[in-house]
Amino acid sequence: MIGLPDNDDWYSTPRSFVEKYKKPLLYALAVIITLGTILIVFAIIHAHPSPREPLCPKIEPLVPTFNRSIDTILNDPTYKKQSIHRLSSAVKIPTVVQDNNPSPHDDPDFYYHFQEFQDFLKLTFPLVHSQLHLQKVNKFGLLYTWQGSNDTLAPLLLMSHQDVVPVNEATLSEWEYPPFSGHYDPETDFIWGRGSNDCKNLLIAQLEAIEQLLADGYAAPERTLLLSLGFDEEASGNHGAKHLSEFITNKYGNDSLYAILDEGEGIVEVDKGIFVAAPVVTEKGYVDVIVTINGHGGHSSIPPDHTTIGIAAQLIAALEDSPASKAFQFHDDNPVYGFLTCTAEHSESISKKSRNIILNAIKKSKKTLQALTDFLVNDSRLRDLIRTTTAIDKIQGGVKANALPEDTSFLINHRVDLHSSVNKTLQSDIDLIKDIAKKFNYGVSFMGETLLEETELGSIDIIFERPLEPAPLSPHKGPVWDILTGTIQDVFQNGVLDEDEDIYVTTSLFSGNTDTKYYWNLSKNIYRFNPSIIDEDLAKTLHSVNEHVDVPGHLSAVAFIYEYIVNVNQYGNSD
Ligand SMILES: *[C@@H]1O[C@H](CO)[C@@H](O)[C@H](O)[C@H]1NC(C)=O
Ligand SMILES: *[C@@H]1O[C@H](CO)[C@@H](O)[C@H](O)[C@H]1NC(C)=O
Ligand SMILES: *[C@@H]1O[C@H](CO)[C@@H](O)[C@H](O)[C@H]1NC(C)=O
Ligand SMILES: *[C@@H]1O[C@H](CO)[C@@H](O)[C@H](O)[C@H]1NC(C)=O
Ligand SMILES: *[C@@H]1O[C@H](CO)[C@@H](O)[C@H](O)[C@H]1NC(C)=O
Ligand SMILES: *[C@@H]1O[C@H](CO)[C@@H](O)[C@H](O)[C@H]1NC(C)=O
Ligand SMILES: [Zn+2]
Repeated sequence: MIGLPDNDDWYSTPRSFVEKYKKPLLYALAVIITLGTILIVFAIIHAHPSPREPLCPKIEPLVPTFNRSIDTILNDPTYKKQSIHRLSSAVKIPTVVQDNNPSPHDDPDFYYHFQEFQDFLKLTFPLVHSQLHLQKVNKFGLLYTWQGSNDTLAPLLLMSHQDVVPVNEATLSEWEYPPFSGHYDPETDFIWGRGSNDCKNLLIAQLEAIEQLLADGYAAPERTLLLSLGFDEEASGNHGAKHLSEFITNKYGNDSLYAILDEGEGIVEVDKGIFVAAPVVTEKGYVDVIVTINGHGGHSSIPPDHTTIGIAAQLIAALEDSPASKAFQFHDDNPVYGFLTCTAEHSESISKKSRNIILNAIKKSKKTLQALTDFLVNDSRLRDLIRTTTAIDKIQGGVKANALPEDTSFLINHRVDLHSSVNKTLQSDIDLIKDIAKKFNYGVSFMGETLLEETELGSIDIIFERPLEPAPLSPHKGPVWDILTGTIQDVFQNGVLDEDEDIYVTTSLFSGNTDTKYYWNLSKNIYRFNPSIIDEDLAKTLHSVNEHVDVPGHLSAVAFIYEYIVNVNQYGNSD
């Protein structure tokens, strides 16, 4: 390298060697010290990650030129009063659906309150109803079209649903205000009632925003705007969203929409004054598995070792404790990582240990990914985002104290992990059930096909319903994403929050499904977002007792939708 002596010289003649090589030796020493220092610094950097590119930087707000009513919507007491009245009136109409609902053609009376609701919308939003084109799809599905001036631009679709979940009669006395009172309490600024938060708030906000744009003289947008309102989202969307999506596909074709925005995750305060908005960019899959143990009846005084109920109990215990239901695995493409990194980088209350676990996972090594997996497993709100869940939700068997139950059946509800599939989920149930069937000497069938011959004791029959694969991952970069997130940044940072508060926008995942499951072919840009700050107590009342919504949250949703429509047209029409 730099004229170093050979080893022989070095050891045999040190004195003459030093004299002879004084200069090169000093030079070599300097090189060694320099290299050593570099190595030590390198080691330190790796032990304590240096400030790297932030994973969750603040994004640029996208400011609309047309903003006539943003301030009015957010701050004007008269507007607020009218808005409260509109949402409260919407909640009063009990548009309840059950798990299984009749076709609107067979039984229109079942949908009586939906007709009432639609009459209410017509009265409440006169400009929308005079200037937009309204089509009824499968009788009660609503598709509003605000025809754009430029047909070559793919339409923007906003979605929500008219229906609400039922109220359990047994819990009526626990409601602070009756579930369909739509009661407004000025002290808390809450509107109470079923659907106030899921999701008549969003539906009314969408119509309020469009009504206000029309009132403000906002000329027809260049890009067509569609608003599609299902009427059985809470029951799978079979009569509503399914037909609406077919209708839209027939009219506009496959992959024909600019973007789709539906109900979804709200904005969370992760630390005092630090907010994270995280549109949901995919959904877990879904499947119901129904297991029936078909055995024999008989007198209860001479029972077999296990009745069909006993076998069901064995199966259920095994399913709940199976390795598949505990197969937690964080993958680095999980969109919840966006939410986690924003929290880790900006919340001061998160522990240093947790922060390191989250941020180190960016290295994507086996060890750092496993550490984050272990961390998420510990959090009951997050663990279901990294596994396929197994919940036994229904069971039926036995009718009499002295009669053996001929058959017992139960239903397993799975929410399928992003990296799994309906097939893998079913296969794992089948394998486990077969093992137990062998042990107790039962046969097994799957969808009518024999897997193990029926025995003299009977057979365990497996069927499945409502299969849904995990949704495609919507892009979280590029122009469509930037307009969505830039609008969130502007409305909340500049309009809603105080000056000393901050909001960050990123991605997330939630464990439920929305009506968007029928819309995958219509656009790759599907986002599920609730444009309101929600607190955890409020979120817990969804589908439960004392559902309520805060009025400022509702108003921020109106402002966001108003501005999103404007921004999409101002910034998004160059495609
Ligand atoms: C609306 O736009 C005007 C002009 O750009 C600006 O001065 C004003 O602050 C904006 N108002 C809101 C509420 O964003
Ligand atoms: C999980 O929780 C346990 C008990 O609270 C705790 O001891 C452990 O450190 C936690 N693990 C991680 C990875 O946070
Ligand atoms: C899953 O897919 C494999 C391979 O195509 C197939 O052999 C198996 O029968 C499927 N399992 C189920 C439960 O559909
Ligand atoms: C998408 O289109 C394919 C082919 O037409 C169809 O089989 C599939 O069900 C559609 N997906 C959804 C979610 O509608
Ligand atoms: C529509 O798009 C989906 C997914 O992009 C594709 O699977 C399907 O075949 C397409 N259908 C038609 C009719 O082009
Ligand atoms: C319609 O939009 C396309 C795509 O941005 C653009 O090329 C075209 O000029 C627009 N047409 C009109 C009439 O504005
Ligand atoms: Zn909903």
